Amino acid sequence: MSKESKLKERYLALFGAEPDLMAKSPGRINLIGEHTDYNEGFVLPTAIDKAIYVALATREDDKIVLYAEDFSEYFESSIHTVSPSDKGWPNYILGVVHQLQELGLAPKGFNLYVDGDVPLGAGLSSSAAVECATGFALNELFQFKLSRQEIAKIGQMAEHTFAGVKCGIMDQFASVLSKEDFVIKLDCRSLEYEHVPLLLGDYELVLLNTNVKHSLASSAYNDRRNSCEQGVAWLREEYPEVLSLRDATVDMLESVVKPKSEDIFTKCKYVVEENIRVELACEALKSGNIEEMGRQMFEAHQAISKDYEVSCAELDFLVDYMKEQPEVVGARMMGGGFGGCTINIVKKGHAERIAKQVAPAYKDAFGLALEPIFVAASGGSTLLN
Ligand code: GLA
Repeated sequence: MSKESKLKERYLALFGAEPDLMAKSPGRINLIGEHTDYNEGFVLPTAIDKAIYVALATREDDKIVLYAEDFSEYFESSIHTVSPSDKGWPNYILGVVHQLQELGLAPKGFNLYVDGDVPLGAGLSSSAAVECATGFALNELFQFKLSRQEIAKIGQMAEHTFAGVKCGIMDQFASVLSKEDFVIKLDCRSLEYEHVPLLLGDYELVLLNTNVKHSLASSAYNDRRNSCEQGVAWLREEYPEVLSLRDATVDMLESVVKPKSEDIFTKCKYVVEENIRVELACEALKSGNIEEMGRQMFEAHQAISKDYEVSCAELDFLVDYMKEQPEVVGARMMGGGFGGCTINIVKKGHAERIAKQVAPAYKDAFGLALEPIFVAASGGSTLLN
């Protein structure tokens, strides 16, 4: 049975009628450019062939009735009293409804069924995918006429307000605006972007899922963001033209931030240098120099682990291992950090074997299974028939 028929059937069984529409929004990977988005820098993400699916329909009353397949659970709220729930999962949907209301758009009552195949907690932005699937689908259902960029921003704000993570725009942007077989080079300040063909020649992408998500993840994320903001505040005393780390240089940081805090200096320097790496990696990709792109990825990992300090032992172990493999040209941790996946560029036909080879050592070291995940660069949010 097709995904569409399955969705329709489940919706019918749960809500007693057919949905008005169905949509999907994918998870994402990011080749390079980590923790740069909230510093108005550059990123190189794309959507993957794993997505969150929603089926929905309007209701006659003012209720929102949700059902999440992953949790086998309903959730109900009045459209007039949308607020964060202790349950967790409804927040990614309710947060979007709340943002729409903030914009003066008033969704009426609706039922929404959500399912998906983006692995949860693997750093593939399943939460952004839920937000974007919801925003995209509600926009269609109620004909709000929002642009894709606006839908991405609504998702990001939902994450800030209802999930408590002050994330950047990368995940939502990739989920909504990606194009099959391309990555997006996104300027997170202007939101100008370019679709760059993901032509890897003899290489392919593989993710290694550490199967951990350390509890530090969201508090450390907000801490790093604060460090960057503090760095900018200090810089602005000397250089008022600096609006974000996007405008800073390592020299500026050396002279202004370093004397005040070695730690904040190191964090800010990482961001400035990571933006340069995105530029270099993207040029390398465009000119088919995959080895050079991979080299930038290895460097990025070293820096995010040692300087920005959002890696963890499991991620470092896997990247170190990959570095020793002649068929691997690049590897690094991906996403917010403290778990999730590494992203690797591996000579075609070798990834499965290498993943099998490292699994026992990984298990010995951490007591955890290791899974390779193969992904294809896919298109952003779409309606389903
Ligand atoms: C998470 C956030 C993104 C981005 C990355 C790190 O995925 O949601 O906005 O900051 O971490 O690059």
